[in-house]
Amino acid sequence: MDTSTSSRTATRDGADALYAPLPIARYTHTAMILHWLIAVLIIANVVLGLSADSLPDDWVRPVIDTHKSIGITVLGLALLRVLWRVSHRPPPLPREFPSWERMAAHVAHFLLYFLMIALPLSGWMHDSAWKDAATHPMHLFGVVPFPRIGLILNLDPAVKEPLHDRFGALHTYLGYALYALLAMHIGGALKHELLDRKSVFKRMVP
Ligand code: HEM
Repeated sequence: MDTSTSSRTATRDGADALYAPLPIARYTHTAMILHWLIAVLIIANVVLGLSADSLPDDWVRPVIDTHKSIGITVLGLALLRVLWRVSHRPPPLPREFPSWERMAAHVAHFLLYFLMIALPLSGWMHDSAWKDAATHPMHLFGVVPFPRIGLILNLDPAVKEPLHDRFGALHTYLGYALYALLAMHIGGALKHELLDRKSVFKRMVP
């Protein structure tokens, strides 16, 4: 038996295995579904929120009601996502990334989690302080009754009115922070994809 040939083949297989690219570390399917679903819903909600004022009068109410329903859905999904995050370790970023870039990614991710909760929460607070909230009950997608925040809804109208404006301004400013972070998040992913040729996008797709 020619043992030298079989041992050479075994050595070559071993070497191939040694130099084969490592499989890409990916997020779990649950994390991917939550990521893309929340991304699509947030973008849809930014479009609806920004366009509400420029629409014909009879469109405004249904558009804002849909905006509220999508926002509350995002709040629920974001809480699920936080639960996923605290119970799972995300795949580590490639080791060849400089430490400042890894740190920037972690900070951006943390702030995005914060905004995924703070933005809909501020919208809900703004809506709960609306003077007509009690006479316009909220229904998610026109079907499921959803409460206002009682602590705000039951305040004296004289206190509620200025709060409505403040919460509205907070909602707008958190929106600005979201645009900046999304630009950083998407810009970073594109930089790794196109300039560094080290895809991080593949980590978030099956
Ligand atoms: C994913 C979550 C959300 C995002 C990304 C979002 C984004 C926005 C944006 C960009 C605006 C326009 C702000 C401006 O131009 O000043 C807006 C307005 C508004 N949002 Fe949200 N929002 C979210 C959730 C909510 C929720 C949960 C509610 C209420 C339950 C809500 C209620 C409102 C209201 C009442 C307005 C004012 C619309 C108008 O009168 O023009 N939002 N939102």
